[in-house]
Amino acid sequence: MTTTTHHNHSGFLLSLPNIYRQSPISWCVFSSTMVSGAIALAFLPLVLTFIIRYRYYFVLFYRAVLVRMWYDCKTGLSREERAFQYVLTHAIPGDPESILETFDLWCSKVEFISNIGPKKGKIMDRMLSDHCPLTVLELGSHCGYSTVRIARALPLGARLYSVEMDARNAAIAEKIIRLAGFDDDTVELIVSPSDEVIPKLRADYGLERLDFVFMDHWKKCYRPDLQALEGSGLLGKGSVVLADNVLFPGAPNFLRHVRKSGLYEWKIHRATLEYSKGIRDGMAELVYQGIK
Ligand SMILES: C[S@@+](CC[C@H](N)C(=O)[O-])C[C@H]1O[C@@H](n2cnc3c(N)ncnc32)[C@H](O)[C@@H]1O
Repeated sequence: MTTTTHHNHSGFLLSLPNIYRQSPISWCVFSSTMVSGAIALAFLPLVLTFIIRYRYYFVLFYRAVLVRMWYDCKTGLSREERAFQYVLTHAIPGDPESILETFDLWCSKVEFISNIGPKKGKIMDRMLSDHCPLTVLELGSHCGYSTVRIARALPLGARLYSVEMDARNAAIAEKIIRLAGFDDDTVELIVSPSDEVIPKLRADYGLERLDFVFMDHWKKCYRPDLQALEGSGLLGKGSVVLADNVLFPGAPNFLRHVRKSGLYEWKIHRATLEYSKGIRDGMAELVYQGIK
């Protein structure tokens, strides 16, 4: 017997390879393959649109997660230690500009690190040169890139307090800050979580006013830390708070508070995410007006 199907009179069926005409099971497999193929084809434009639309996020995931995991296994060092090794062997010690450029090169060509980066960095440089702050607080030092960026723009006699809760990151930041030539009088690194440091800034560090605050730590800490700073009385009229990444990954609670509190004049500087193309980000610049 050559076939078990009742439809063997159909020209279409006869044109099928023998295997599909031999049993109902083969026929079922064949028809379900055809249906799945048709469904897959129907979804293809959707999938392609999705991939094209989010390509920059895929590239970011590849660079920030997959490449990092690969080098972690290959080198046995942390990403921050690898960055430090590169800066140590390629930058000019005592030259903050060279240290920043070397960092930027490594972060754009080798691995991704969420430093403020050169584009948003230039916006911050401009603000620092406009306001000439004497007392600066940074929340989130990581490897010390933004710390060096801020320190090199400060007027003589100014002091920067940089807060980092991760001891391993802080150790790298300390080496980078000292490599750039800044001593303990200009930059003091505080290894502790921000919510523990802010309430102690007056008593333990003798601060009376903060002229400039740079927020670049975990985004969920932005709002509580800003409220803690407001409560501490360290923000005075004209104090500037600059908060990075308020659009990506985003800090909606922080922005809502800024909008509703009425304590600030504020604006968003739109830019793209550091060392990435096509991912929109922004920094919020707040100028404290005090309670009216
Ligand atoms: C995005 S990185 C900072 C990048 C750095 N500002 C730069 O531009 O070079 C965030 C850092 O904040 C630190 N961090 C996160 N939450 C913190 C907190 N509540 N207190 C202190 N440091 C924190 C993390 O450990 C991480 O090193």
